[in-house]
Amino acid sequence: MNVPFVDLKLQYAPLKEQILAGIAKSLDGMQLFLGENVQALEKEFASFCGVEYGIGVSEGTSALTLLLRAMEIGPGDEVITVSHTFIATAEAILLTGAKPVFVEIDPVTYLMDVTKIESLITPQTRAILPVHLYGQTVDMDPLLDIARQHGLRVIEDCCQAHGAEYKGRKAGSMGDGGGFSFYFSKNLGAYGEGGFITTNNAEIARKVRMLRDHGSGARYHHDLVGFNARLDELQAVALRVKLPHLADWNASRRAHAERYHQLLQNLPAITPVVLPANQPVFHLYVIRTQHRDELQAYLKERGVFTGVHYPVPIHLQRAVEFLGYKPGSLPVTELVTSEILSLPMYAELTDEQIDYVVENIKKFVDEKELVAAH
Ligand SMILES: Cc1ncc(COP(=O)(O)O)c(C=O)c1O
Repeated sequence: MNVPFVDLKLQYAPLKEQILAGIAKSLDGMQLFLGENVQALEKEFASFCGVEYGIGVSEGTSALTLLLRAMEIGPGDEVITVSHTFIATAEAILLTGAKPVFVEIDPVTYLMDVTKIESLITPQTRAILPVHLYGQTVDMDPLLDIARQHGLRVIEDCCQAHGAEYKGRKAGSMGDGGGFSFYFSKNLGAYGEGGFITTNNAEIARKVRMLRDHGSGARYHHDLVGFNARLDELQAVALRVKLPHLADWNASRRAHAERYHQLLQNLPAITPVVLPANQPVFHLYVIRTQHRDELQAYLKERGVFTGVHYPVPIHLQRAVEFLGYKPGSLPVTELVTSEILSLPMYAELTDEQIDYVVENIKKFVDEKELVAAH
């Protein structure tokens, strides 16, 4: 049996006709730029996230960058975030001229350790940027309290958390703004690049709308130095066809996670821990083992494709050497990144495929005579 890491063709097949018909209609009308589909998607996805304003942008990286810029965060400012995330989180901060300050992650959830934020706040700190990694939200209430007490902005990185909930509130609705990615393999993915900004703040919405279109409110009149960061109309067509299915797809991912969880009990691998306040959307299903690289190779030989998200934490990437972090700066982050393995996860995964993945993990454990849990 073959179990790919993701299989996007399975999602595409039943939606193909509708997507192609929508694309044909847009092309026939040659309305390719901030047209009716982008406008409709902005309303529909904002409503899905439970926020007042939604703005389509070119990708997740620009969603975060534009939010920071709209909040006038830039050179001389510090933004507290995590090192255990995709590089784009830190890139967005650096692209504004501000400096990312990395806080440790929680050893159980692998998300921002909110108890460690306050010790990193300086007179330069302007914002906290929590990342709802793997589809589970950060413990937001204490984080929002800290932000309120210190007058800091909160920007949620929701690029892996479309539809995730914290105490009934959706990712992207809790901070001053949320940034989403519609990269093709996300829980809601375009057929190319795409991104989205959510906010309940009218002024932030007005500014990011201008920033995504060269800082312009009226054609050829530029009030801000902005970006070319528009969501294109053809991506919006596909995203609108997919959005009504997102809640069901997320529910399927949760069911798959539950099956993995049950089957992996009593094996020497740590399964994801979901906090009671959370309803995650399992963008990724990530286990932990000290034998990560060996297990990954073993599974690959047997047709099971896995990933590592992410093998090198940002603070140890060459690109940000100038920030001065060293191995040992963030011990929890460094340990976790050396042990994580993302198992196949997508809505259309079958029970048989999950069983096959776990069967092979069991065989690996037996052959290696691994016993004690971790
Ligand atoms: C956590 C996180 N932040 C930011 C991004 C950047 O999004 P994009 O690739 O759409 O720029 C991604 C996705 O790739 C991500 O997973």
